[in-house]
Amino acid sequence: MNTFKADIEEIRRRAMEKIEEGAVTASYQADRERVISVLNEVLATETVCTLRYRSHYFMARGVHAPGIEDEFLEHAQQEQEHADRVAKRITELGGTPNLNPEGLASRAHAEYGTGESLLEMVKEDLIAERIAVATYSEIIRWLANDDPTTRRMMEEILATEEEHADDMASLLSRIHH
Ligand SMILES: [Fe+2]
Ligand SMILES: [Fe+2]
Repeated sequence: MNTFKADIEEIRRRAMEKIEEGAVTASYQADRERVISVLNEVLATETVCTLRYRSHYFMARGVHAPGIEDEFLEHAQQEQEHADRVAKRITELGGTPNLNPEGLASRAHAEYGTGESLLEMVKEDLIAERIAVATYSEIIRWLANDDPTTRRMMEEILATEEEHADDMASLLSRIHH
């Protein structure tokens, strides 16, 4: 009888622990602090990419580039969705999403850019997408099976970045011809 009571108390204690930890359970294999810090770099990258595409959207409107501005806007919105998913995952892991504008550029893998012509802008976007594809692929390999939820999210984000890189590459050949 005493053993049974002890078991119930142990189960309740473990359940309470899990509730306090949210989505993270005792079976979580990865180094949580490391994952949070890597995800904060991804969050910075996605935020910088959102800002860059938004600035390109407004600049492309200035140079009368029909169709192209819509593509920039669509990418800006998708980068914002990525940033939101990553921020949400950071909180699920018990971390704090770092959206502090101070140091944002140095935390990001990709650059904000300085291009003013359409050609320069598209080149910058293509470079930023290729960097994102490379670093996210690394992160996915690193997560392996230790944190399948974060890995799946990164795989889905990676697929969109590959599409973005394709879009920018074909845009580049359209402007370049
Ligand atoms: Fe993105
Ligand atoms: Fe992208």
